Amino acid sequence: MDMDALKQKAAYEAVDLVEDGMIVGLGTGSTAKHAVDRVAWRMREEGLRIIGVPTSSRTREQALSLGIPLATLEEEPALDIAIDGADEIELGTLSLIKGAGGALLQEKLVEVSAKTLIIIADESKKVDKLGGRFAVPVEVVRFGWRSTQERLRALGCDPVLRGGDDPYVTDEQHYLIDCGFGLIEDAATLADAIKAVTGVVEHGLFIGMASRAILATRGGIEVLLPG
Ligand code: A5P
Repeated sequence: MDMDALKQKAAYEAVDLVEDGMIVGLGTGSTAKHAVDRVAWRMREEGLRIIGVPTSSRTREQALSLGIPLATLEEEPALDIAIDGADEIELGTLSLIKGAGGALLQEKLVEVSAKTLIIIADESKKVDKLGGRFAVPVEVVRFGWRSTQERLRALGCDPVLRGGDDPYVTDEQHYLIDCGFGLIEDAATLADAIKAVTGVVEHGLFIGMASRAILATRGGIEVLLPG
């Protein structure tokens, strides 16, 4: 089974948890894309009725093209469930690194408002400690971004502006600085430190948010719970 088939398997398993009438956070990325497709399939084939709250302009466009009714977070501030991918999932805590796809701010805003956050991924995303493979994306205001970058460097990382000379601009019109910390011993403490940096809007460490992770492995589905 190839990686994309594993992502699809995890996504379909998660969408089985969606019930009629739910307000559903629709994640962003190549795994979450399968979940959005599956929601549309269940609406068509099973008569499922939901309202989706997208976590990016990309997901919004996909959902609209599939005919999924959508609301903004202002219209539906309390979600029943959200389903999204992640770049790294820490065993035990289910702390996450998210944002390689650039949508971490809207993702965090939507997902912190959901009763249940289901993370879907292929088995390669499971790690013992965060930070070994992915940098922590940090969303910063564009004004004075270089000085913000230096304050981030002072936390002990190697900060790189995403896109370089042609910076990536997020849905909320900010820049992203990818902060390579290496293996992170205490992600919760680091999350607080990054959030306290002037110029930082949000970061891709999602601490204490995931209710479960559904991983598709070559041996079948593995469900991880926090704690
Ligand atoms: C989007 O900004 C990210 O947080 C994604 O959720 C994350 O990068 C996972 O993406 P894939 O499912 O494409 O690996």
